[in-house]
Amino acid sequence: MKSVDAIDEAIRDPKNLGEMTEADAVGTAGSADCGDMLRMWIKFREVGGRRVIDKATFQSFGCQTAIAVASMATELIKGKTPQEALSMSGEELSAPLGPLAPMKIHCAQLVEGALKNALTGVVVPIPAANAPSLADSLQPKAGLKITFR
Ligand code: FES
Repeated sequence: MKSVDAIDEAIRDPKNLGEMTEADAVGTAGSADCGDMLRMWIKFREVGGRRVIDKATFQSFGCQTAIAVASMATELIKGKTPQEALSMSGEELSAPLGPLAPMKIHCAQLVEGALKNALTGVVVPIPAANAPSLADSLQPKAGLKITFR
């Protein structure tokens, strides 16, 4: 399945959406670049003397890709220990969606940042969106001459 199709499908029916009132941990990440934010709630349980993630939910004030990745990630981390979940990169958390477009890679890093913030309390800086800013996109192309009358 192409990444765009997988993202569309994940957005149509996002998993684990919403606040979790009985959460053991909560983490937030924000991208200063695009202004998007994501919050993740995590509940643990004990299995054979190990603490594992029982469930995770999220809220997103952000783009559709971040919602799709968070939906996927909250499923992927179920049953993992905090250390196992911490070792997952944004790329791993979004892997079932297929490769993300370069300008959308930071959307997965936003999810990774919220997860790491929930598990460690550390605020993770989200890299730039790697997309041209409005000012960049208004710059004239080489060889193009703009005249004002
Ligand atoms: Fe910024 Fe997706 S999180 S565009």
